[in-house]
Amino acid sequence: MNNMVVLISGRGSNMRAMVEAGLPVAAVISNRAEAAGLEYAAGRGIATAVVSHRGYATREAFDAALALAVDAFHPGLVALAGFMRILSAGFVQRYQGRLLNIHPSLLPAFAGLDTHARALAAGVKLHGCTVHFVTAELDHGPIVVQAAVPVFVRDDATSLAARVLAQEHRIYPQAARWFLDGKLVIENGIVRVNGDHPQQLYAP
Ligand code: GAR
Repeated sequence: MNNMVVLISGRGSNMRAMVEAGLPVAAVISNRAEAAGLEYAAGRGIATAVVSHRGYATREAFDAALALAVDAFHPGLVALAGFMRILSAGFVQRYQGRLLNIHPSLLPAFAGLDTHARALAAGVKLHGCTVHFVTAELDHGPIVVQAAVPVFVRDDATSLAARVLAQEHRIYPQAARWFLDGKLVIENGIVRVNGDHPQQLYAP
């Protein structure tokens, strides 16, 4: 049970950061066969699987097939890493307390898509990323760790995304490690880490 399954839909750079951090990634599963991250994982000798959402009539049927694929590896932790499908309440319930996500904003600001463009349009001076436990409400679960970066006048969505992504690659492996080491405690929706571990990072 002390291993993890990572769910991706594309590039998979966060998954790669977890593998390179030495985390026990048992399998990488994608809803898209063409996800570039699958090739990287296979090249590292990690099991891969594809469960295409196109093959199922309903979200619930897809999620049931996805859960079967995940459960084959008996993971203690399931990490969503750029997995671009909204999961059903049933799926979220099944993995409650062991399902993490990374979102490219300082939640609760900018839940949903196009976070970097929306942050620029709002004129925020700090932006960042959040690792959180997944709950039924999209991008709203208990926050494990956040990293903030400055927003510069010259930024566009691409430059800002790159600055945020570099921090994603730091905080997501850290959060997964804390989880697998049994260090995360959720009380009244607030996450703390046992021991002296900062849950925030500022990367100027
Ligand atoms: C990451 O920036 C991640 O935070 C974001 O997708 C990207 C995936 O990149 N996730 C979401 O927007 C989820 N709502 P990656 O495939 O290279 O890890």
